[in-house]
Amino acid sequence: MGGLAGAPQRAEPPAAELCICCDAERLERHPFDPDLDVFRPPQRQHEALVKLVRSGDGCVSAAFAEGRTVAYVALQKPDPFERWSDDPSGRIWELGAVEVAPAWRGRGLALRLLEQTFATGFFDDKVVIAQLLSWHYDTERSGVSPYTYREALIRLYRKVGFRVWRTDDPEIAGRIENALMARIGPVAPPETVERFHKLRLAGTAPWDFPF
Ligand SMILES: CC(C)(COP(=O)(O)OP(=O)(O)OC[C@H]1O[C@@H](n2cnc3c(N)ncnc32)[C@H](O)[C@@H]1OP(=O)(O)O)[C@@H](O)C(=O)NCCC(=O)NCCS
Repeated sequence: MGGLAGAPQRAEPPAAELCICCDAERLERHPFDPDLDVFRPPQRQHEALVKLVRSGDGCVSAAFAEGRTVAYVALQKPDPFERWSDDPSGRIWELGAVEVAPAWRGRGLALRLLEQTFATGFFDDKVVIAQLLSWHYDTERSGVSPYTYREALIRLYRKVGFRVWRTDDPEIAGRIENALMARIGPVAPPETVERFHKLRLAGTAPWDFPF
């Protein structure tokens, strides 16, 4: 046995290979870890994300280890029924999901995936929104309150250029544990940025606008 006397014997975690804005074929070849179950059953989420990439309306970055997907981030155009889709420029996108299999959490995988995805420059001319909704939080496994969870997510997303924005979207505004964040790309056209601000306060009368 190697290691210093008294030093904890820690197995070196296997390295994960990142695939940034991954192509559909490669993503399809890597089934989901069975514990990637926060948003949907793993197999269904895997199929949905492969389909999203094939549609051309999404970017999925994934971490692979031992032949499986152990983490991913998915960015996509907002669903047509959401207010955020009402954007003629088509440059408002959404960070739809970020998920790391429990055994792989706390090793910076989410941060690395996000950093490398934004480093591609593809999102520099876009506004990417992130809806932090408490019913997606894995409070059961993390053991923290929804509010603490929200704060942790805000810290994480801030590291890649997101900031918190006020909104009157009832789904988000209805709970203090929720938040709207957005990353305004450095070369996002002014009309897209203006549209984002109008949409986030779409139900607020002009005299109620917060500044
Ligand atoms: C949130 C999640 C993606 C973070 O993945 P991860 O790879 O463990 O995150 P990282 O190791 O990159 O950590 C990044 C930072 O976020 C913090 N963090 C993120 N989520 C956290 C959480 N739920 N609880 C505590 N800390 C959290 C980490 O402490 C770290 O902060 P620090 O650098 O200041 O210590 C992961 O916990 C997860 O898959 N959760 C379930 C799905 C989910 O909640 N997705 C987001 C909601 S839409």
